[in-house]
Amino acid sequence: MRAGLKTTMTALAMLAITTSLSQAEDVEVLHWWTSGGEAAALNVLKDDLGTKTIGWVDMPVAGGGGEAAMTALRARVTAGDAPTAVQMLGFDILDWAGEGALADLSATATAEGWDKVVPTALQAFSTSNGQWIAAPVNVHSTNWVWINKAALDAAGGKAPETWEELVAVLDAMKANGITPLGHGGQAWQDATVFDAVVLGMGADFYKAAFIDLDPAALGGDQMAEAFNRLIKLRSYVDDNFSGRDWNLASAMVINGEAGMQMMGDWAKGEFLKAGKVPGADFVCIRFPGTQGMVTFNSDQFAMFNQTDAAAQEAQVAMAKAIMDPAFQSAFNVVKGSVPARTDVSNEAFDDCGKKGMADLAEANTNGMLFGSMAHGHAAPAAVKNATYDVITAAFNGEYADGAAAAAALAEAVAAAQ
Ligand code: BGC
Repeated sequence: MRAGLKTTMTALAMLAITTSLSQAEDVEVLHWWTSGGEAAALNVLKDDLGTKTIGWVDMPVAGGGGEAAMTALRARVTAGDAPTAVQMLGFDILDWAGEGALADLSATATAEGWDKVVPTALQAFSTSNGQWIAAPVNVHSTNWVWINKAALDAAGGKAPETWEELVAVLDAMKANGITPLGHGGQAWQDATVFDAVVLGMGADFYKAAFIDLDPAALGGDQMAEAFNRLIKLRSYVDDNFSGRDWNLASAMVINGEAGMQMMGDWAKGEFLKAGKVPGADFVCIRFPGTQGMVTFNSDQFAMFNQTDAAAQEAQVAMAKAIMDPAFQSAFNVVKGSVPARTDVSNEAFDDCGKKGMADLAEANTNGMLFGSMAHGHAAPAAVKNATYDVITAAFNGEYADGAAAAAALAEAVAAAQ
């Protein structure tokens, strides 16, 4: 009896030790990857960490662009309960680093030579004050259009290369009785389309307006024309678009209800998840007029300061796992993005992925790589949110014309700085 009790107690004690060990090696990950394609990519990450005995505690916060996730994060940190690892974009990473909330990954970064393989444009958001404060898992870009192949064939078969050709294809799709443009009416989605429209007005203009925040560019004639184009695009969207999630808009293109979607390459993850093949079922093109240029955003994992040594170890292990070249290939093949390292082969990628990798390298070499305003890589959150408000109001016809919207944009951005 006594021996039995002792055995039970030993077993309990061992269970307690094992539990506390496995809990200590867990990472709690806050992210907004909740669509089918995103979840598939997330599983690649989860499984990879699993093989390294890092446990996963999931904290998903739905909402593309991560606005809701960032609100949830602020609440957790304010409550003194920061998650271990957080998916973050651009200026948000730098803001948190400025608050001193992020763990310094420099020792790992130096040992693993991250500075030699991560493009400088990404390092601008992975480092702060000479320290590595985030590990980039991918590079997405926002100036893509995803077209249903059969719908394109029925509309003449030629992928549009200019704004005029784009309008002609959209008109033909309308005449064919489908919704030309699959879109979800959420501010970040409107802004994603607008990234591409503004870039289509020229690289210098995009840079002046969205990176340099030049008031003359924000409020001038070219911006008025960009808004007129956005307002024109609205006329190709169905009436039920308001509040629709982006992946449901992708589904409309996948099933032929809509002709195309203007969306970042996370949309490709939805097509792949549905078993669709690039070139056969869908076509990926750069937004007409933006070939050779890229507006990028990079998902990075920032590690929030932890006092527990085992938790810190798990953070380092997770950062290393994320930066592993084989993982970067496996993950990005599913996610729709491209690797955040320049030394990963394009072999495993489909044609759209290969194009994405080649476009990124070309744009980087030619000074044509710009941070996405819609996805937090052009300006801090206050400015981004100010642009969201004006872009969505313009999309919904709240201004008399593009010129009025441009004037409102210049004013809103000035007020937000
Ligand atoms: C992220 C992507 C994500 C998309 C839609 C973007 O901001 O960078 O990883 O798939 O939002 O949720």
